Amino acid sequence: MTDTRENWTSRSGFIIAAIGSAVGLGNIWRFPYVAYENGGGAFLIPYLIALITAGLPLLFLDYAVGHKSNRSPPKAYRAIFKGGETLGWWQVCVCIIIGLYYASVLTWAGSYIYFSIGQMWGSDPEAFFFKTYLQTSEATGFDPRFVSHIFWPLAGIWALTLIILYGGVKKGVELSNKICMPLLFVLFVLLVIQALRLPGAAQGLNAFFTPNWSAMMDYKVWLAAYGHTFFSLSVGFGIMVTYASYLKPKTNLTGSGLIVGFANASTEILAGIGIFAALGFMAHAANSNVQDVVSGGIGLAFIAFPKIISSLGAGADLFGILFFTSLFVAGISSMVSILEVPISAMMDKLKWSRKKAVSIIGGGSALVSIVLFSSVNSIKLVDIIDHFINNIGIIGGALLSIICVAWFKRSALLEIRNHVNAISTVQLGKGWDFTLTVITSLILLVTLGMTIYNLLLKGYGDYSLSLQWLFGWGCVIFCAVIAFILTRVKDR
Ligand code: ALA
Repeated sequence: MTDTRENWTSRSGFIIAAIGSAVGLGNIWRFPYVAYENGGGAFLIPYLIALITAGLPLLFLDYAVGHKSNRSPPKAYRAIFKGGETLGWWQVCVCIIIGLYYASVLTWAGSYIYFSIGQMWGSDPEAFFFKTYLQTSEATGFDPRFVSHIFWPLAGIWALTLIILYGGVKKGVELSNKICMPLLFVLFVLLVIQALRLPGAAQGLNAFFTPNWSAMMDYKVWLAAYGHTFFSLSVGFGIMVTYASYLKPKTNLTGSGLIVGFANASTEILAGIGIFAALGFMAHAANSNVQDVVSGGIGLAFIAFPKIISSLGAGADLFGILFFTSLFVAGISSMVSILEVPISAMMDKLKWSRKKAVSIIGGGSALVSIVLFSSVNSIKLVDIIDHFINNIGIIGGALLSIICVAWFKRSALLEIRNHVNAISTVQLGKGWDFTLTVITSLILLVTLGMTIYNLLLKGYGDYSLSLQWLFGWGCVIFCAVIAFILTRVKDR
């Protein structure tokens, strides 16, 4: 480790930041709609199995790779295996792409805090979201029209993210998390308590907690579960490698990993409880089934929740502000972690100062994000890019990291395990090696193979092929090409 590398003030500072990264839009926006689309109760068991068989084993691996090398992904993987640098850059590129649309959803959340006052979405939240707010284009291809009321908040989100990142590891990332996380905890607990008090909440909880065995036979539910776990835990795309690289030499890695994994899963399940309780309330009011009350999908948080909020009467403003502020606060700390990966990688590789890296990488990403996501295509692009980058970019990156560590150079896995065990309370045994090398890799291989096969054969959703190729496959190809190019660039 060089003397100049930044680090966390303490282990708890790292744990708070890692929880801040893991707990994000994935938990409050993505998990409920993915669960809703995949049969509610049918999703919970695959999700927990995915967490245990793939999420946690990989979380430990990410920590170990980052901590052992004290470097961000490209150099961290190169230290293990010569060709590993390309994998590191692939993960860096995946982060850049996620950052572009993550800022967009964060902007919606921020705007909806304001719309909650007096429920500005009116009597038809669906029409308000798609037509009035996003002004979604009917065109099948890319429509360059621009929405000015999204431009400014989106630019504001980017400005806030870059200000935090300019502050560095201690004074930016760690400090912002120390403010956001306790705030999120209070807001979120209040929110869930409110949701549980709604009439019909029990009906929603039944739908969420009752396993639907037949739906579980559908392989798509399993693909969705594995696809979601990594995004949610922030593993497989370099974040935890980077965060662990800022740790001091003697840090309990597995203990920290278990705390982060547990905190993330709890928030996710709590979000599920809150949202499904609220859906139960809607079903109760409409005298119908939880699975029929709203159209699922990406808009769930921005359509179903406003509907619920509007029907609350006196507490409506407060409930709306609580929900969307939670979403916003959770998201901003994750947004910072996503951008920290490319920034740290450039600082490591080209010896850029933090100021230069934040300005070039952060500024460049902000420009692209603002151009793409203040257009009338925003929701389509979020949906397409999120699907491709999660199911190919993250899953592919996760699989390659296991291949790099456990397959190509078998001694590397043992070295990594010894490194972790020398400083951690919970010891990793041969079971961990076996899970990663055989179980996780096989599952990821099958998941990735089926996703690619399905996408090539059937495409994704109803989107035009031009949009899917430009923004779905285009992002995947971008990551691969840039990863190869950056690997060839000489270190400074
Ligand atoms: N882990 C982050 C989230 O769940 C990216 O939103």
